[in-house]
Amino acid sequence: MTEQARGWTVRPETEADRAAVHRVVAAAFPTPAEADLVDALRTDPAWLPGLSWVAETSGGEVIGHALITRCTIDGADALALAPVSVLPEHQRTGVGGAVIEAALQAARERGEALVTVLGHPEYYPRFGFVRASTLGVKVPFEVPDEALMVLVLDDSEPPPSGTIRYAAPFGV
Ligand SMILES: CC(C)(COP(=O)(O)OP(=O)(O)OC[C@H]1O[C@@H](n2cnc3c(N)ncnc32)[C@H](O)[C@@H]1OP(=O)(O)O)[C@@H](O)C(=O)NCCC(=O)NCCS
Repeated sequence: MTEQARGWTVRPETEADRAAVHRVVAAAFPTPAEADLVDALRTDPAWLPGLSWVAETSGGEVIGHALITRCTIDGADALALAPVSVLPEHQRTGVGGAVIEAALQAARERGEALVTVLGHPEYYPRFGFVRASTLGVKVPFEVPDEALMVLVLDDSEPPPSGTIRYAAPFGV
């Protein structure tokens, strides 16, 4: 089924979406921490135009959101996908997948090399993510090996390897 047939479409976030995005992120996670993180990232140099995507119903309600921001890997530019949020009543209907694919495609079109994600190891491989450890990418804290994943967008150059440094608002 196409997105439109399902009653929603995806598009980049606009300024008018800020409050709605905050609501969606806060509803998807147990605490407001991730919603506050999105707001903090918006004013951080790690924020890149065109890499915050929303899913919106035909009635104009924002129901999903995916954010990609700048990180570095041993000083080389890379991207971090986080957070991804879908309103609980719309989860498992394809919204998360669509909004992630759209954000990844926008990153690819910017000529970015690699996206990292820390999350459900059962979910992200469907987008092409593989274990980060296979490419020598790690984080400066303890995580289960399978939870840290990377997607190479541009394989014309060797992908960066080393330790991920996240934007300051992540606080890690
Ligand atoms: C994770 C999330 C973004 C996925 O979005 P979604 O729209 O529900 O997912 P899609 O409909 O595109 O894909 C559905 C598939 O995702 C996987 N999936 C969804 N939620 C999952 C979870 N919590 N753990 C593992 N896999 C999950 C399942 O394989 C599911 O398939 P199934 O319904 O056949 O079991 C969404 O469920 C969400 O907002 N969860 C709460 C916040 C969160 O955990 N964010 C991600 C942090 S890594």
